[in-house]
Amino acid sequence: KPRIFSGIQPSGGLTLGNYLGALKRFAQKQDEGIETIYCLVDLHAITVWQEPEALRRNTREAAAAFIASGVDPKRSILFNQSQVSAHAELAWALNCVARLGWMNRMTQFKDKAGKNAEKASLGLYAYPALMAADILLYHATMVPVGEDQKQHVELTRDIAAKFNHDFKTEFFPSPEPLIEGAATRVMSLRDGTKKMSKSDPSDASRINLTDDADTIAKKIRKAVTDPEPLPSELDGLKDRAEARNLVNIYAALADMTPDQVLGEFGGEGFGKFKPALADLAVAKLAPISDEMTRLMNDPAEIDRTLGDGANRADEIAQPILGKTLEIMGMIRSR
Ligand code: TYM
Repeated sequence: KPRIFSGIQPSGGLTLGNYLGALKRFAQKQDEGIETIYCLVDLHAITVWQEPEALRRNTREAAAAFIASGVDPKRSILFNQSQVSAHAELAWALNCVARLGWMNRMTQFKDKAGKNAEKASLGLYAYPALMAADILLYHATMVPVGEDQKQHVELTRDIAAKFNHDFKTEFFPSPEPLIEGAATRVMSLRDGTKKMSKSDPSDASRINLTDDADTIAKKIRKAVTDPEPLPSELDGLKDRAEARNLVNIYAALADMTPDQVLGEFGGEGFGKFKPALADLAVAKLAPISDEMTRLMNDPAEIDRTLGDGANRADEIAQPILGKTLEIMGMIRSR
């Protein structure tokens, strides 16, 4: 039976990259009638230092972003990871299945740990095994993510396969990464070779979900581009990372293909395209940011929603955790 699981770290404000690569698609999957489980991965967030009050606020704000983007906490399960303790328990078991050699190949660890990996937390290193636990704990079959998470989902498949092999079982299904649409990798507005990220020191490099209309329009107007007009064929974007990025963003926001966007804007300069993109971005994002503000006025209600989601997640997770530990040889006598 198909089941979707995906997560977002509540480690700061969310960006247009998170929206187009994840949130918008999460709502679409739910509307397709697939069982959907979405998680604010606070245990992942603390792999780097989080100020406790900020973590709490960012978790609520990320929950508000899910709901404002169309994730309905009645039809989907929406919760924060640390309220379902089975995540941490299964992660330990999977730490003992995953191999050091596999973890050493994880590019996100190398990027985040930087040059001085000795100073990184042990949790940051083990992070991908916790992510595998998130997915396998629900026997999820599909994992919608942006391009940057593909390697982690592939590692999850390796961990599932090794578990099944070592214990001569078919207990864990192999999850598929779903990396679809025009915006699987939204790039920085200042540098078309860098991913748009909440951790980029330059705020002008990204659009935050909480940016107001003027800020969004200004950031798009100032986005780095080349002086050429847009081509009429996709081929013409090959060596133009910045132009390609803006076309992809337009396509994803408008539910068009990049081809269709070029059909409309091919031959036009950025003087015409940027204002059209800014208008589109404001039209799509302003209602989300307004709804987030409204939801954030009632933090207790958000906490209740997360608690309810955690109860429902726990009902699925507990039996799967129990069965996993039993397969591994642990006594389960209570
Ligand atoms: P995180 O919090 O970095 O990002 C959340 C989601 O947003 C996508 N994303 C992007 N997509 C397109 N362009 C971008 N510039 C961009 N930036 C971020 C990410 O690909 C992701 O889908 N490890 C995960 C969280 C996680 C998870 C999981 C995901 C924990 N457990 C289980 C799926 C399943 C992470 O750090 O995502």
